[in-house]
Amino acid sequence: MRSHFLPYCLPQIGEEEIAEVVDSLRSGWVTTGPKVKKFEAAFAEYVGVAEAVAVNSCTAALHLSLAAGGIGPGDEVIVPTITFCATANVVVHLGARPVLADVDENGLIDTARLERLVTPRTKAVIPVHYAGQSCNLEAIASFARSHNLFVVEDCAHAVGALHHGRPIGAAGNAAAFSFYATKNMTTGEGGMVTTDDRDFAARVRRLALHGMSRDAWKRYSETGTWYYEVLEAGYKCNMTDIQASLGLHQLRRLDEFVFRRRALAAHYDESFADLAEIERPRQLPGRHHVYHLYPVRIREKALGMDRAAFIDELTRRKIGASVHFIPLHRHPFYQTAYGYKPEQFEGGEKYYRGLLSLPLYPRMTGEDAADVVEAVREIVLEARGRNRAAQPAAVGEEALAQ
Ligand SMILES: Cc1ncc(COP(=O)(O)O)c(C=O)c1O
Repeated sequence: MRSHFLPYCLPQIGEEEIAEVVDSLRSGWVTTGPKVKKFEAAFAEYVGVAEAVAVNSCTAALHLSLAAGGIGPGDEVIVPTITFCATANVVVHLGARPVLADVDENGLIDTARLERLVTPRTKAVIPVHYAGQSCNLEAIASFARSHNLFVVEDCAHAVGALHHGRPIGAAGNAAAFSFYATKNMTTGEGGMVTTDDRDFAARVRRLALHGMSRDAWKRYSETGTWYYEVLEAGYKCNMTDIQASLGLHQLRRLDEFVFRRRALAAHYDESFADLAEIERPRQLPGRHHVYHLYPVRIREKALGMDRAAFIDELTRRKIGASVHFIPLHRHPFYQTAYGYKPEQFEGGEKYYRGLLSLPLYPRMTGEDAADVVEAVREIVLEARGRNRAAQPAAVGEEALAQ
């Protein structure tokens, strides 16, 4: 048994990041400045797009992308039911309606069932590259083309992921990334919009800073000018140089982080391969999964225990766990505001059953990963033993097939 608790997630911050932050603090330039510009350029290059605009969260990146895409009151935007609430809330904030789409057996937006959601008010779709694996971008592109929809990819989980060899974040009209503390790279809080459309990027940039014609860097630097105009009522979502200090170094280490995540996922895959009670995440053909999450689905009936009890057992063994996600259609807000009911989401309900995420992050040691494996195996094997003792005939093929 471990002596100390293994948190579900921890960021990996190195000495370079710390020194860069200190450099910003000493320089006196602590808000948007040269390091944000440098970070944006490096990120655009990494993703392979013309423009990247750094903001203070992925929520802001999604919100500003939809706003700059012209989404407003009366419009409908399709989002998957398995996602974080931010994906849908930004739609609500713009006065539009989030139309929840069902998901497939991998927790990804079910592109085969999108057509039925389209109305004359449908203006956009937000595919979420859930857990770090890209969704069916070809199907999304053809769906969007046939209904003239604006596509904002939610890449909160997927920085570094590849779709048929191409980095994620360049397939739609815009893409939104997260650098929240738990994400594959972090700036504490932070986000990025990527796009190939320079005019669109300029609009996002302006909306991110009050709708002003010039940002502080342009006004206060040696070559700057005091004059600016407010061109529209924008928001306040700019990234600071302190955050970009972290981002610059995290981006350099991203491939190394992804390598480690994939190695840990392969280790889990191998270690749980003989446990029929644990359904592991699948890597689809043509995808380079970056395993932001390692979501497993436990077969509650076969185990004779539910998810809450399984998580309690992990906690007792000092292993953190989480759930990604409680489907949006189950939350009171979306049920009350839009009348969603679980019966409407067969795929989402099925995916959510027994769903939990195990710890998986580069800062974990080999010993940490071995402890996770040991804890999971122990819980499963103990449950098997209990079930056999209680009702020897019941734990068979039928229960495993639930
Ligand atoms: C799928 C998804 N989209 C958007 C967000 C929002 O990211 P942020 O916290 O950077 O605003 C999250 C955060 O967890 C997320 O998981």
